[in-house]
Amino acid sequence: MAATTTAQPAKPVLLTGASGALGRKLSQAMGTLGWPLRLTDIAPFPDALPAGATFTQADLVDLAAIRDLAKGCGTIVHFGGTAVDKPFDEVIGPNIRGLYNIYEAAKAEGARVVFASSNHAVGFHERTTVLDDDSAFRPDTFYGLSKAYAELMGGLYYDKHGIESVFIRIGSCFPEPVDARMLATWLSYDDLARAVIAAVLAEKTDLCVLWGASKNARMTWWRGDGRAKIGWEPQDSADPFTERLKDKASGDPVAERYQGGGYAAAGYSRK
Ligand SMILES: NC(=O)c1ccc[n+]([C@@H]2O[C@H](COP(=O)([O-])OP(=O)(O)OC[C@H]3O[C@@H](n4cnc5c(N)ncnc54)[C@H](O)[C@@H]3O)[C@@H](O)[C@H]2O)c1
Repeated sequence: MAATTTAQPAKPVLLTGASGALGRKLSQAMGTLGWPLRLTDIAPFPDALPAGATFTQADLVDLAAIRDLAKGCGTIVHFGGTAVDKPFDEVIGPNIRGLYNIYEAAKAEGARVVFASSNHAVGFHERTTVLDDDSAFRPDTFYGLSKAYAELMGGLYYDKHGIESVFIRIGSCFPEPVDARMLATWLSYDDLARAVIAAVLAEKTDLCVLWGASKNARMTWWRGDGRAKIGWEPQDSADPFTERLKDKASGDPVAERYQGGGYAAAGYSRK
């Protein structure tokens, strides 16, 4: 069960990436609450539209379209863009230019941004390191670098214009964990939905980082984030999968050394 709240956002919520794996879950979770939703994605929306939602197909790199979509919105839940490790040229449009467009739209509306950041912004920290929310970025891919850049951009818009952001550094958000690493990094769909809903409804967030993992006993890498400030606490856990998955490691010493796993190991050429 995702979130149960009767609270409504004061203004409509714009959700980018609505047709993606997580966007569809969030559309459903926020739609079920009867929230006024503007959904957008470059791909068609594959599901029935929730009551109270509209869908507009748009490219994140189209500033005019994004500004138009954001008009009158109080929050932009930004989940669109390149969501996996890709070559630089495929990251830069959606995740850098598109991100700028999102922040320009947020600035024009005075809207908050709730952003799908990633553990891959810090993926080159070793698994023995415990990170706080202000630990240094150590991106493990161009994709992870775009997430670090997004958090820095959010900082610029906050410091200069007072635009609030909640950065959810998502670990592994899938129906269930599928390997040993995910016993640490797994985030259930419902815990994600509850985090987004709390981030939208919070009275004030300033700049806030959330470590996006469920209540997993093996999540010893991350601590100290803004969850208390927005009133989010994960409720699910990867622990019931421990016996089945604890020996399902990658076999790659680089992947096993770093928090980012296979993303850190991909194309690794350091001697
Ligand atoms: N799933 C995870 O475990 C995970 C982990 C960390 C971060 N994230 C982040 O969460 C977000 C959603 O991830 P997902 O797993 O649902 O990925 P996804 O690929 O299923 O969804 C991304 C969506 O963005 C859309 N998109 C891509 N380029 C676009 C463009 N130029 N204009 C408009 N829309 C565009 C795609 O069509 C897609 O529907 C991403 O930002 C991803 O980086 C996900």
